[in-house]
Amino acid sequence: EQNKLWGGRFVGNTDPIMESFNASIAYDQRMWDADIRGSKAYVRALQKANLVTQHEMNQIHVGLDKIHGEWSSGKFQIKPGDEDIHTANERRLKELIGEAAGKLHTGRSRNDQVVTDMRLWLQDAIATLKGNTIDLINTMVERALYNTCHAVALSRDVEHVEEIRRRVSVLPLGSGAIAGNPFSIDRELLRKELDFNEISINSMDATGQRDFVAEFLFWGSMCLMHLSKMAEDLILYSTKEFSFVSLSDAYSTGSSLMPQKKNADSLELIRSKAGRVFGRCAGFLMTLKGLPSTYNKDLQEDKEAMFDTYDTLHAVLQVATGVMSTLKVNQKNMKAALSPDMLATDLAYYLVRKGMPFREAHSCSGKAVYHAESKGIPLSQLTVEDLHTFSPLFDSDVSSVWDYTSSVEQYSAQGGTARSSVASQIEHMRAWLKEH
Ligand code: ARG
Repeated sequence: EQNKLWGGRFVGNTDPIMESFNASIAYDQRMWDADIRGSKAYVRALQKANLVTQHEMNQIHVGLDKIHGEWSSGKFQIKPGDEDIHTANERRLKELIGEAAGKLHTGRSRNDQVVTDMRLWLQDAIATLKGNTIDLINTMVERALYNTCHAVALSRDVEHVEEIRRRVSVLPLGSGAIAGNPFSIDRELLRKELDFNEISINSMDATGQRDFVAEFLFWGSMCLMHLSKMAEDLILYSTKEFSFVSLSDAYSTGSSLMPQKKNADSLELIRSKAGRVFGRCAGFLMTLKGLPSTYNKDLQEDKEAMFDTYDTLHAVLQVATGVMSTLKVNQKNMKAALSPDMLATDLAYYLVRKGMPFREAHSCSGKAVYHAESKGIPLSQLTVEDLHTFSPLFDSDVSSVWDYTSSVEQYSAQGGTARSSVASQIEHMRAWLKEH
């Protein structure tokens, strides 16, 4: 018999390579707190079902609290044979309180335990990431940076993760290994103790599905897709050629060869992390695809994907907040980059306002652009006579078109670039922030 939780039916030993291949303790130990919370609730349900006495329950609680103290002070010692966090905590409980520890796992399986731990852990993790995302949005809205569009995308990410959190909050404990629980465990008591919204409906589904992990990985992918796009905008605008924005030294690095260089490494890393998390998401979906019903050890792969996605987002969101709060916007350079050809649409709108159908106006303006280009002069330098060759509707008041401020101001409908419109977008985002 092997000295393992499941050693009874074994006579041969595990190959050492298999032992470490099988173990998840290296990474699942970070769920130690969730694991203890789950066990404390479970022993209450066992006591209510008369499977442990009040005294045994107290002993188990005292033992679990001690283990909690060991983990939180960094004193918990992982021993060889601690396959995963569940095994490690139960092994330690037995060392601390003796025989009563053996009753804790009555009717429970690591299959319902592990997925309970993950759902507990992920709910806290989501709360943290939601807070990180809101900090970033807040920084962007308060600085009313060159464009609020990225903040709007991130606000959808917050709403999305709130929805996912509701689906994470479904309690699997009481499902056993596959078939449910034969000891009339009160799952409603477990739900209340562990503060879940709902109880899972079917025990085979509850232990064998990881939709909530896949959804979280997809959320991370989508959020990073948004952040990666934002990073790309800023990388381009921070190049010497554009110089629309400058990154603070705190979020840049230098070159070991070229002394003049200031690299936007924070943003390049943010852009790259999207690829990393997309890979986690696609990889885990492939692990799930084709699995038969109920728990299979393949599912142990869920944890590294979940933790890595969390760690990546947790870091990226904080760095992005730092970048955004320290970014310098170089208005002068932005103004210097304005050129009259950007107002070709305005030239077409001028004709539209004089009654010309837009399609025709577009063509007239296009011809004017071509003409100016072939003469090698800016669009705004064409004379009224020049313009007359494209349409008789052009008059001396066309000079009013060559004004960048009024060009921006004309987009006053909701969502546009007019000062008033941008201000109400910012107000909208402020109100949204208050609700989240
Ligand atoms: N460490 C395992 C995991 O993370 C726990 C579940 C073990 N269950 C099993 N049938 N081997 O998935």
